Amino acid sequence: MKPETCHLCWFSPTGTSRSVAEAVGRGVNAPQTLLHDATHSEAAFTATTGSLAVFAAPVYGGHVAAPALQRMEKIRGDGTPAVVIVVYGNRDYGSAARELSDYVSQRGFIPVGIGAFVGEHSYSTNRYPIAAGRPDERDRQDAEAFGRAVAAKLATEGVRQVDAAALPGVRNGKLATWRFMRFALGYLLRQKRHPVRIEVETSAERCTHCGHCVKVCPTGAITAGDELHTDASRCIRCCACVKGCPAGARSYDSPFAPVLSRNFPQRKPNLTKV
Ligand SMILES: Cc1cc2nc3c(=O)[nH]c(=O)nc-3n(C[C@H](O)[C@H](O)[C@H](O)COP(=O)(O)O)c2cc1C
Ligand code: SF4
Ligand code: SF4
Repeated sequence: MKPETCHLCWFSPTGTSRSVAEAVGRGVNAPQTLLHDATHSEAAFTATTGSLAVFAAPVYGGHVAAPALQRMEKIRGDGTPAVVIVVYGNRDYGSAARELSDYVSQRGFIPVGIGAFVGEHSYSTNRYPIAAGRPDERDRQDAEAFGRAVAAKLATEGVRQVDAAALPGVRNGKLATWRFMRFALGYLLRQKRHPVRIEVETSAERCTHCGHCVKVCPTGAITAGDELHTDASRCIRCCACVKGCPAGARSYDSPFAPVLSRNFPQRKPNLTKV
């Protein structure tokens, strides 16, 4: 088959999942491309058998970011082929690819291509860089090639399902994994004994009240006119406001940033299965 329409659907607070989805769409090169941004509101579309859908979402804690699944609840396919993409911050994608693959399958799609791409970690800062600047040009080329490979497979073999279990795993060194797990377990234990919630901070000196953070926040945790305050019960710590603030007024000092930066410094390849 040759898809007439390509639906691109993403949840992407800091834009890396979106960037990968768009590059895959360029590689597919369908006559028509429809965009469904599920970052700030629900995506609700029904895709026909003659189309292809591309879904992209970030990995949070080794799983698909929960708000992505909430926002894509109303997508529907009819035996429609789909590309499933999870974007992770250079540590590990965990069970996210399988979860998103199962999720779209339950809604009438047939995964024909699965990918785990690397994006700059939400917690990455100048001091603690983690996959900074990714996806970069090389990543976008990978994503376009992935899109072309999916289109070629559809043209020659038709709609043939791929199993998420066939996607290669991330290769992390044993020592780095052990150090990270030791830190994460210790952190969880400390939190259990003495819970301390680390919140996004806003500098009153720097904030110009431009309102940009209100626009980029996917969960409505910041109110226009009250930008110095963040509603912690709504905040998912996606860091969209931190990275998007033109005045550098917002920060989120994740205790995981140093340990991630130190233990996962090497460039990881993007992993795909068609
Ligand atoms: C709460 C949270 C948890 C995360 N957990 C992981 C993780 O388990 N593994 C990983 O490699 N990256 C993790 N990341 C990094 C994101 O997956 C990565 O930055 C991704 O590119 C963000 O996607 P977006 O730009 O579409 O928002 C996490 C980020 C956040 C905010
Ligand atoms: S984006 Fe930054 S400067 Fe603008 S209102 Fe938000 S915190 Fe203030
Ligand atoms: S306030 Fe929280 S949820 Fe909203 S953009 Fe900032 S980090 Fe993300």
